[in-house]
Amino acid sequence: PEKKLWGGRFEQGLDKKTEAFSASITYEQRLAPFDLQGSLAHVTMLGETGIISSDEAQQIADGLGLLKDKLEAGEIDFNIENEDIHMNMETHLHKTIGPVAGKLHTARSRNDQVATDMHLYLKATIRDVLGLLHQLRQTLVDLAEDNIETIAPGYTHLQHAQPISFGQHLMAYYQMLSRDADRFEFNLKHTDMNPLGAAALAGTTFPIDRERTTELLGFAAPYANSLDAVSDRDFILEFLSNSSLLMMHLSRLCEELILWCSHEFQFVSLSDAYSTGSSIMPQKKNPDMAELIRGKSGRVYGNLMGLLSLMKGLPLAYNKDLQEDKEGMFDSADTIMTSLEVMNGMLATMSVNKDIMARATEKDFSNATELADYLASKGLPFRQAHEIVGKLVLDCTKKGTYLQDISLEDYQTASPLIEADIYEVLQSKTAVARRNSLGGTGFEQVRAQVEAAKKALL
Ligand code: ARG
Repeated sequence: PEKKLWGGRFEQGLDKKTEAFSASITYEQRLAPFDLQGSLAHVTMLGETGIISSDEAQQIADGLGLLKDKLEAGEIDFNIENEDIHMNMETHLHKTIGPVAGKLHTARSRNDQVATDMHLYLKATIRDVLGLLHQLRQTLVDLAEDNIETIAPGYTHLQHAQPISFGQHLMAYYQMLSRDADRFEFNLKHTDMNPLGAAALAGTTFPIDRERTTELLGFAAPYANSLDAVSDRDFILEFLSNSSLLMMHLSRLCEELILWCSHEFQFVSLSDAYSTGSSIMPQKKNPDMAELIRGKSGRVYGNLMGLLSLMKGLPLAYNKDLQEDKEGMFDSADTIMTSLEVMNGMLATMSVNKDIMARATEKDFSNATELADYLASKGLPFRQAHEIVGKLVLDCTKKGTYLQDISLEDYQTASPLIEADIYEVLQSKTAVARRNSLGGTGFEQVRAQVEAAKKALL
């Protein structure tokens, strides 16, 4: 067996089962390009500062370049004996350029190396997430714009409450996702920091130039404290927390889509491309993708809880527990990115059954507030108006009729303030149009929101 890169003080090889237990290489291969990038910056700095000769630095840089080509061609093999991505890559470098490869690890530890890889990976990932979020927000705005005048039942307690613009309902999700995007932007700031040069925990006696590696790696700034740089994972926790909030939002929207495409609602129809059938019931068209996104929110919450629990009792600085930061992060990143993509496709291709949706507010009492407001605006104290309308609703429910079916005569018996214009007031469309308070569901307000969103997305 190959000798370990850290094998000097050991007389015996590692137990085989334990070797596999200790290794992270099986699940962190995606860090390889970032590990090479970090090494290249490090060796460039080592050469420039004269810590190693410029000739040696050049040989190592060339070797790293060769490894990069091989990696892209899929010709790099990884093995458990070399434990993690760092030692796998370094071993390959030794095989490629010989003993000079041993100079790469001068003034560096795997502790700052792994932190650097993780920052580089997460920076790139957050940028991808922001791109996908942008796309989904755009799709929601397009859909909302198309449905500004679509009347839908608005709910509280899942009971018809007041009619709203379906565009307003969609824009609510746009607003939530915009705050998610803000949170990821903030997360990006905390990830845009360079841990390289912290070495094992305490910095180094070599005259390294951390500003230079910061510049070479494109980070905004170096970490100010070496212990902090190698021992915290708050940038990952922030990502997992942001991912959880995002999935919570997506999951709620999915829950609504599932309701809306049920036989009872029929408000929307999902495209075949985003639905599945049943192996036994020939008629079925199931909203599986919405259910899956709703379901996957669970593992994303779990990844957050996992890392929070892992971190809470760790003394400074590095502990091997920290190696367990990776799978959850990768899993959440993959999960939110595929969820965003699928969600986007599902919304972009679904059709809204505008007539069915509007009809849902024709035979209900969601216009009761209109009648109460009507009376209040004529000077009746709102509480009295509420009482009168409540009685009328009760009366209707006994007879199986609705407020718009009550004759003017009966209305005037209930209150002489009610006049013939009440029938217009009771219509859903009027009710929505008149709710023009800032941020309300009035068509003008929804249109203004859509316009502001379009600008924000430019
Ligand atoms: N594979 C390790 C990790 O992911 C790299 C750092 C190892 N450092 C150490 N001192 N054992 O955390």
